[in-house]
Amino acid sequence: MRVYAVKDYREMSRKAANILSAQIISKPDSVLGLATGSTPIGTYEQLVEWYEKGDLDFSEVRTVNLDEYKGLDKENKQSYYYFMHRHLFDRVNIPQEQTHLPDGTNAEAEKECRRYEELMESLGGIDIQLLGMGHNGHIGFNEPAEAFAKETHCVDLQESTIQANKRFFESAKEVPRQAYTMGIGTILRAVRILVIVSGEDKADIVKKAFWGPITPQVPASILQLHPDVILVADEAALSKVTEKL
Ligand code: GLP
Repeated sequence: MRVYAVKDYREMSRKAANILSAQIISKPDSVLGLATGSTPIGTYEQLVEWYEKGDLDFSEVRTVNLDEYKGLDKENKQSYYYFMHRHLFDRVNIPQEQTHLPDGTNAEAEKECRRYEELMESLGGIDIQLLGMGHNGHIGFNEPAEAFAKETHCVDLQESTIQANKRFFESAKEVPRQAYTMGIGTILRAVRILVIVSGEDKADIVKKAFWGPITPQVPASILQLHPDVILVADEAALSKVTEKL
C-alpha cells in the first residue's frame, strides 16, 4: 500500500483528483468506480475545475458507483444518483449513458444485483475504484459482518450507519433501511483502489483498517491484501498511526 499523508481535506482532494486525472489522461476510456459521502465532494470539485480549464476530457470515461439506497428514486435528493449528478456528472462532458449506479427503484434485489455485476463485467472491470470509509470501517455499504460479501448484494444498514447518514435527511426515520452495494469481492477486482480519508473522527478506524488485523468486522481491512492500494489521508486521520509512513 502506498500512503500519501497530506495536510488537510483540501490537499487530500487535490491529490485524489490528481490520481484520477492521471488515470483518465493515460486511458481516456477508463472505468472509474466512484463513491459518495462527504469525503469525495472536494475531489469531484477539483475534477470539475480542471475539466472547466480544459485539462480533462470525460467524453470516453465510463463510471460505476459503489452503492445506492434501496427504495429511493432518481429524483430523490438523497439518492446517490442525485448526488453524483449534482457533484460530477452534470458538470463535466460525460455522456449520461456511460454513468452507472445500482437502481434503487428495482425492488427485485436478486435481479438488480445480478444486472449490476453483469454490467461491470461487460465494461471490462474497474480500472480505479475510489473509496471513502465509514466510521465502522464500511466500504460502499459493506457493513461489519461475519464474512466478506463477494458480489453486489442488498444490505440491511446498521443503526450506526443510519445515525451517521441521517445528517443528509430530515430525520433518521427518513433514512432507507436497505441499500444495494458492490461486494467486497467486486471492489477487490478493481485494478487499483484509491482510498480517501479525512478528519480526526476517522483516526481510530484508519489505524484499525490499515494497520490492524484483517477481519470482516472491519470490512476495509481486506484492502491490505490488494496489490495496488493508494491511501490518501490527512494528518488528523493519520494521527493515531504510530508506524513509520
Ligand atoms: C456512506 C457511503 C460510503 C461512504 C461513507 C462515509 O455510508 N455508502 O461509501 O464511504 O458513507 O461517508 P463520509 O465520507 O461522509 O464520512
